[in-house]
Amino acid sequence: MKLLQPLLAVSALATGVRASQKVVPVPFSRQAERRTGLRRRAGTFSQELNNNLTGGGYYAQVTVGTPPQPVNLILDTGSSDVWVLDSRANLCNSEALQLYYGDCLATYDPSQSSTYSLVSDDSFSIQYVDGSGAEGNYIKDNLSIGGANITALQMGLAENSTINSGLLGVGFSANVAATKQYPNIIDMFMQQDLIASEAYSLYLDDLHAETGTILFGGLDTAKFIGELKAVPIQPDAETGTYSSFTVALSSFTTTADNGTVANYTRAAAIPVILDSGTTLTYLPSSIADRVFDAFGAYDDTSSGGTGLVYVDCGYLSDSKNLTFDFQFGGTDGPLIRVPIDEMILDNVDSYTGLGLQVPDDLPFDNACSFGLQANQGYYLLGDTFLRSAYVVYDLSNKTIAMAPANLNSTDTHVVEITKESGIPLLSGVASQVTAEQTATGLPGISGNSALPTVTVTSTGSPSASSTGNAAARAVPAPNWEAAAVATIAAGFGLVGAGLILL
Ligand SMILES: *[C@@H]1O[C@H](CO)[C@@H](O)[C@H](O)[C@H]1NC(C)=O
Ligand SMILES: *[C@@H]1O[C@H](CO)[C@@H](O)[C@H](O)[C@H]1NC(C)=O
Ligand SMILES: *[C@@H]1O[C@H](CO)[C@@H](O)[C@H](O)[C@H]1NC(C)=O
Ligand SMILES: *[C@@H]1O[C@H](CO)[C@@H](O)[C@H](O)[C@H]1NC(C)=O
Ligand SMILES: *[C@@H]1O[C@H](CO)[C@@H](O)[C@H](O)[C@H]1NC(C)=O
Ligand SMILES: *[C@@H]1O[C@H](CO)[C@@H](O)[C@H](O)[C@H]1NC(C)=O
Ligand SMILES: *[C@@H]1O[C@H](CO)[C@@H](O)[C@H](O)[C@H]1NC(C)=O
Ligand SMILES: *[C@@H]1O[C@H](CO)[C@@H](O)[C@H](O)[C@H]1NC(C)=O
Ligand SMILES: *[C@@H]1O[C@H](CO)[C@@H](O)[C@H](O)[C@H]1NC(C)=O
Repeated sequence: MKLLQPLLAVSALATGVRASQKVVPVPFSRQAERRTGLRRRAGTFSQELNNNLTGGGYYAQVTVGTPPQPVNLILDTGSSDVWVLDSRANLCNSEALQLYYGDCLATYDPSQSSTYSLVSDDSFSIQYVDGSGAEGNYIKDNLSIGGANITALQMGLAENSTINSGLLGVGFSANVAATKQYPNIIDMFMQQDLIASEAYSLYLDDLHAETGTILFGGLDTAKFIGELKAVPIQPDAETGTYSSFTVALSSFTTTADNGTVANYTRAAAIPVILDSGTTLTYLPSSIADRVFDAFGAYDDTSSGGTGLVYVDCGYLSDSKNLTFDFQFGGTDGPLIRVPIDEMILDNVDSYTGLGLQVPDDLPFDNACSFGLQANQGYYLLGDTFLRSAYVVYDLSNKTIAMAPANLNSTDTHVVEITKESGIPLLSGVASQVTAEQTATGLPGISGNSALPTVTVTSTGSPSASSTGNAAARAVPAPNWEAAAVATIAAGFGLVGAGLILL
């Protein structure tokens, strides 16, 4: 999830402080063995992610403390702090709050961990653009994820929270919610010589697949089709720092069953943030509104509305092969085609069962909802986009590489990413159907990295206004949503896509 603007605005105000930190970097304490040559061999660590359709997110089960306490955390490329719910948190001890926000998922009890230590009281406070947030202390404890043991990771310990699970933020440490930057989980992976480069790959898999994977320190050539192509991560326009996974979306089109292409892009590329903690995809109104027109959709996201964009479910059967095509970094850049059933979601009936009042002037009977919405100020590619892509995030070299995901693949062929190699731009499998391995051999960079750099006139900068649909969610959710969240948390089976909209 994206952090709320005011918080970022505060950091923007403190630019002086940040700039001086950049000039005189506060060194992270390196481990002694790094220099003595007793370096442990770095490797890769694969962590399974549970696709919780009803919970609206991808959860990683990690353990915190000694002895280890299992906790479920939402994997979030849009933020940078790891935080856990304290077993004493307000939400976890109030039936009224849980009725509204959902039952507390796994909590952590610091008094039961011998390796727990306090960093600072009341210093942890995080707010996301959807109006949710958490606050409490910063602490340190050991954390194990995907078989990797990280010693003394700084984490938030939530005492007050409006989210019923902790988060695993894997963004740049420049974006941590703390007033003073600290080495976050990705930095710690590197500092403790667990991986050879600050890089990982994310494979969310099919909407209906039960698990996805995050692979720290490597990529898996069995999980994508064709060639991985790289694009540069865009720095923040004002500060020049890298704080989010912003890339240049240079083309957004649809391709109809008969091959007709509708191009919704104007000349300039759009800065978009890859955000696994966001369920839907948010594009500028200038694009989204024209897509809605083309599909005869009904946008009910204005304030007082139900928060959904309705579209005729008939498209799912009449235009089975239609795709939404996202291309990055120019005409040679990665192209991801999102199939219609990942963008038009047959989930409205299940929400109706939870109290959603569909507007009575819909121009069609069988309503689905769009996995795409309009926003202003910043644009996010959430799970409705990310499921169709295999994405490699290289924080060391400020590069992202993408290829179409090879859905439902059970094969695996892992290649390590090092600082020297960068992301090896390898080929994956030849096609979806055969799922046969074609890439073998060692990391090597093909000639592909020389993509045109698209200049992004970044309106995605943190100081952008916080109006628009996302911020509107800071007000209490519509009743049906609250009811839905509570019902879902109570364990009802809901068939459909994510409910948490941002
Ligand atoms: C999915 O999430 C809900 C609440 O968000 C939780 O109650 C349920 O146990 C989760 N299911 C799985 C399979 O993790
Ligand atoms: C939690 O909320 C209570 C009541 O609103 C407040 O008194 C307390 O200071 C909050 N705790 C933290 C750590 O922010
Ligand atoms: C992490 O710790 C567990 C439990 O102590 C141990 O079994 C495992 O081998 C460790 N993993 C690594 C990579 O050191
Ligand atoms: C846990 O932390 C302690 C102290 O910080 C450290 O000595 C120990 O090796 C860590 N254990 C694991 C399994 O990483
Ligand atoms: C959709 O694609 C499949 C496979 O390429 C093809 O067999 C089918 O005829 C296409 N359907 C339409 C409506 O174009
Ligand atoms: C292709 O399909 C689109 C959408 O269904 C339609 O508007 C268009 O006229 C068709 N084009 C051709 C050449 O059949
Ligand atoms: C769509 O239009 C944009 C802007 O003119 C252009 O850069 C892009 O290449 C076009 N996309 C396709 C698939 O033609
Ligand atoms: C992947 O598996 C799911 C569940 O079995 C199925 O619904 C879906 O169609 C499959 N997707 C592809 C692309 O094969
Ligand atoms: C770093 O990224 C640039 C392009 O962004 C690329 O040209 C270069 O090869 C990369 N280097 C490594 C070591 O990954």
